[in-house]
Amino acid sequence: MHSPDESPRPNSTEDRKDAHLRICLEEAIAGLDVTTGFERVRFEHDALPELALSEVDTSVELFGKRLAAPLMIGAMTGGTERAGRINRILAEAAETCGIAMALGSQRKMIEQPAVRATFKVRDVAPNVLLMGNVGAVQLNYGVGLDQVRFLIEEVGADLFAFHLNPLQEAVQPEGDTDFRGLVGKLEALVPRLPVPVILKEVGAGFSKKTLRRVVSLPIAGIETAGVGGTSWSKIESFRTDSWVQQMTGRRLATWGVPTMQSLQAAVSIFHGTGKAIFCSGGIRTGLEVAKAVALGADLVCSALPFLKAASEGGLEATILTIRQMMAELRTVLFCTGSRTLAELRQAELVPVEDMGFRGTRET
Ligand SMILES: Cc1cc2nc3c(=O)[nH]c(=O)nc-3n(C[C@H](O)[C@H](O)[C@H](O)COP(=O)(O)O)c2cc1C
Repeated sequence: MHSPDESPRPNSTEDRKDAHLRICLEEAIAGLDVTTGFERVRFEHDALPELALSEVDTSVELFGKRLAAPLMIGAMTGGTERAGRINRILAEAAETCGIAMALGSQRKMIEQPAVRATFKVRDVAPNVLLMGNVGAVQLNYGVGLDQVRFLIEEVGADLFAFHLNPLQEAVQPEGDTDFRGLVGKLEALVPRLPVPVILKEVGAGFSKKTLRRVVSLPIAGIETAGVGGTSWSKIESFRTDSWVQQMTGRRLATWGVPTMQSLQAAVSIFHGTGKAIFCSGGIRTGLEVAKAVALGADLVCSALPFLKAASEGGLEATILTIRQMMAELRTVLFCTGSRTLAELRQAELVPVEDMGFRGTRET
């Protein structure tokens, strides 16, 4: 475990993307001792909703596309044969259920032309609101305007996400850790891209300080990817041979801004800007989707549950997982007397202390 020279390096020759999938599916990389914070608020039940369940409409229009629910399969993968199979299952499930989908980092499409097909899902998901992805830090490592345009066009993305992952890169054996000058680079590059741009974290969230810095960028929105779900610090701790990095990754596994706090900060700072807020990080149930929407999220993303469903149960299980979340969301609208998502935003969320019991996950 403890390598003699302590130079950080991956602990096998396994492809990084496949290693991420394996660790996510086999190791305890979520939960830990922090939560999203959503268990601290509860909806008030409406026993007389004056609605028929059949009237409830969870649909939403975003970036020119109508979604059956404000739900996105979060950015995960691509770049290996296994990842390509998973992407196609996720895409087909998203198409069938009418929700959005994000691709994982497309950096490999630039470096390895042979794997480009593993990111291409338009043949099975022609109507899906599809978000492309690359690390913003790659703008300091040779990726520029032409490459990003290429990534967008090759997959037919409607949106493009730059992910911000300083914690992950710091713990990653081969991490790209020079984050200097990215604000200026994004400022120059984003307006020249053919689709709207989202800035996202990968599980450590956005603080008020960061949100104040990014609100003036020409981006279309952010995705919180807060603490409470998948921990990239923890995942990378499984991949490194360096004992120092292993310990750093484990000890900082809960570092960052919990999802609900990050969402509330984004709502207050983005108010009136017209920028979209995607909420993610530990979203596991339709009830949590509903809470995020009620607190101001335009779209709610969940990643790990869909990877598990796709990998372990294939297309059918993935569709079932999405339908389950959608049914829960619909039921919450019904039981809060909300016919639409706009009405759900008016529903009251009460702190659990005011309801007289301790906050535990409501599932
Ligand atoms: C297997 C896996 C791979 C991921 N790869 C990426 C990626 O390439 N780019 C990115 O922006 N986020 C990536 N993420 C982060 C997710 O998009 C999301 O922000 C994070 O996992 C928190 O959501 P969750 O708790 O629902 O999993 C990945 C997540 C998982 C589980």
